[in-house]
Amino acid sequence: MRTVILANELAAAVASAKAAGKKVALVPTMGALHEGHLSLIAQAKKRAEFVVVSIFVNPLQFGQGEDFAKYPRTLEADAKLLAEVSADLLFAPTADVVYPNQVAGATQPAAKSAGPVGEILEGAIRPGHFDGMLTVVARLFDLCQPDIAVFGAKDAQQLFLIRRMAATDYPHLEIIEAETVREPSGLAMSSRNRYLDSEHLELAKQLSAALRFAKQKANTPEQALESARAVMAKSPAAKLEYIALVDCDSFGEIQAGFKGRALLLIAARVGQTRLIDNIEIVF
Ligand code: PAF
Repeated sequence: MRTVILANELAAAVASAKAAGKKVALVPTMGALHEGHLSLIAQAKKRAEFVVVSIFVNPLQFGQGEDFAKYPRTLEADAKLLAEVSADLLFAPTADVVYPNQVAGATQPAAKSAGPVGEILEGAIRPGHFDGMLTVVARLFDLCQPDIAVFGAKDAQQLFLIRRMAATDYPHLEIIEAETVREPSGLAMSSRNRYLDSEHLELAKQLSAALRFAKQKANTPEQALESARAVMAKSPAAKLEYIALVDCDSFGEIQAGFKGRALLLIAARVGQTRLIDNIEIVF
């Protein structure tokens, strides 16, 4: 597996794969790879003959006081893992490659706006996060020109916004959703799980327990919300930020009497670590 850093190296590798008749898949990541990322790559490999994995910790999607500086950066181990799973290309750009017009020392403004859906739930707690996320994802799409891009279902609001952006700005790009990969305890895999000690891991598994319990009990949206809140109330040390039910199609909070596919979303802080998870429920 080759690693490239520069935009023209990426473009040349992708062009030669396409010239050889290969479909190109992009798996954007911020590194610190785990089983969840490997499942995204497995999905990509099923659908494309040339799989590019990008690793870039995007400063634009971190707010002040968030974990940008301490976000795990494990490029060497990541490259080894990617070679083991036979990814074709690792694109590991520096910030000046992704944001070439950035003035040194200045904060790069986000070029994309996530709109109102970017301001609720995760976006309310992390203002500007989704504008920064969409900006880098669009930039990666522009640099790589993939046929397919794969994202995890765990980041449901992110996935919704990427799909919506792709539908208008990248109509030929197919967005693939990969199922959340879980620890045996039910905890959704995340690069941030490595911040958790054994006491925190115990608390963290309450998020998925709350979602599963709610799905079992849910005849109505109200019951689903109450059941999930009841599970979380038993572990107050996990600081609940929100539990919400949204319509899969609009990401709008659902109203009483809703019928259709919904996502039950949860976010909580365990120690210093924010965790999110979700489950689909059909009413
Ligand atoms: O989900 C992530 O790891 C990031 O938000 C993404 C999509 C790679 C953009 O930086």
